[in-house]
Amino acid sequence: MTRSIHHIALMLSVACLAIPTVKSEPLSGKQLYDIACEACHSLGSAPDHRVGPPLGNLLGRKAAAIEGYRYSEALRASEWVWTLPTLLAWLSDPDTAIPDNAMNYVNALTAEESQRLAEWLLQQP
Ligand code: HEC
Repeated sequence: MTRSIHHIALMLSVACLAIPTVKSEPLSGKQLYDIACEACHSLGSAPDHRVGPPLGNLLGRKAAAIEGYRYSEALRASEWVWTLPTLLAWLSDPDTAIPDNAMNYVNALTAEESQRLAEWLLQQP
């Protein structure tokens, strides 16, 4: 009995946490990156323990160019160069952009958020 009351109280507090707060400011490019990319990618150019390759100095970089990172065959063969249009195409749907790539990612961002994130990311060292 007390157990189930505790359970209900827990569920109520979880439900309260889940109610979105009113946002006055849209999320910045950095905040969007931290939410959507950072778990799998660091910045800079040195591969680390993360699943994806580092994304620093991306503007004008050829796809699959980081030494020491094991890219998919598909990304290596793509001959893509990272610019705002190619990055947006990649982010909107990686599997359509470069079939058989290894980035297991579904874009949950709006077009505007993707644009803000991409513009920010392409300026990072
Ligand atoms: C679940 C992990 C994961 C998430 C989340 C993720 N990526 Fe990736 N990403 C990867 C992997 C793995 C690859 C390598 C793909 C391959 O080799 O085919 C990759 C490759 C890339 C590349 C190509 C880099 C290069 O050196 O050519 C870019 C650009 C990229 N991701 C951008 C992003 C951005 C921006 C986000 C956030 C919106 C993101 N990724 C989210 C795992 C992820």
